[in-house]
Amino acid sequence: MNKLPSLGMLYDHIRPEERLLIDAAKRKGIKLELYNAEEIFFEASEIDNAQNFQETVLQRCVSYFRSINLSALLESSSINVINSSKIASLCGNKLLATSTLAKGKIPTPKTFIAFTIESALNALSKIGYPAVIKPIIGSWGRLVAPLKDPESARAILENRDCMFPIYQVYYLQEMIESLSRDMRCVIVGDKAVAAIYRYSGPDDWRTNTARGGRAENCKITTEIEDISIKAAKVFGDGIFGVDIMESPRGLLVHEVNYTTEFRNSVPVTGVDIPGLILDYAVRRSKK
Ligand SMILES: Nc1ncnc2c1ncn2[C@@H]1O[C@H](COP(=O)(O)OP(=O)(O)O)[C@@H](O)[C@H]1O
Ligand SMILES: [Mg+2]
Repeated sequence: MNKLPSLGMLYDHIRPEERLLIDAAKRKGIKLELYNAEEIFFEASEIDNAQNFQETVLQRCVSYFRSINLSALLESSSINVINSSKIASLCGNKLLATSTLAKGKIPTPKTFIAFTIESALNALSKIGYPAVIKPIIGSWGRLVAPLKDPESARAILENRDCMFPIYQVYYLQEMIESLSRDMRCVIVGDKAVAAIYRYSGPDDWRTNTARGGRAENCKITTEIEDISIKAAKVFGDGIFGVDIMESPRGLLVHEVNYTTEFRNSVPVTGVDIPGLILDYAVRRSKK
């Protein structure tokens, strides 16, 4: 008799996405063992520190630091983590993500990095106003702010100067103007499986659905498929949410999410994203 396929899933919060994955596993007869990152601990000085884990583990932690550290530890014990610590560390850091996209020749917004207020203002004079500042690590649009002119830029930079040192790595980007929507294309392995438009809500310029953005089905054109698959590939083999903006220069990839949320994509596209993620993880576990 064939054994049931089995996978592990690391999490720190059960979001609707993790709930959908748990439900899909039940539906598909896949044993999904759950590991709460807030409860587990390891003897890191032991070689075989992860022997109680399934051989293939989906990494679904919200926290970037938990994700990369836990994944690296599991990988050192030969656990197959999806997405890998390498993918997470590149995608989860906007500076490394931008330079990886640039190296892969994927069109991306013009972006500068600076480490002091004065050098940031000099960089902004090259980008022009309005521009956007982002924390290099973060999500849900948090602290992603428009810089409308040199005066407001200086004020926002001075404000960041009072925060933790990570917020003084100034990631500065051209503003793609009149952007009322962007696109999120979900990649599972080598396939673009679903795409949505995200329209910004009435109270915010950002399109993040966590900030009231509205999701609508988006037809996966060859252009969207092509740029999304290529963008995902420069990071590696895995599961991604590729965020794309329409600009006068054509499509630009501004973010590649490595623990992508899909609660809004499933109902508007009708695609069983959690089921496809599990099928992919099972395929990877057989390799
Ligand atoms: N360069 C830009 N031009 C216009 N809007 C942007 C730009 N960068 C980000 N945004 C808006 O801000 C949102 C959040 O930015 P993003 O880079 O995706 O950060 P996060 O990781 O916090 O989601 C985007 O979904 C988009 O609506
Ligand atoms: Mg985003």
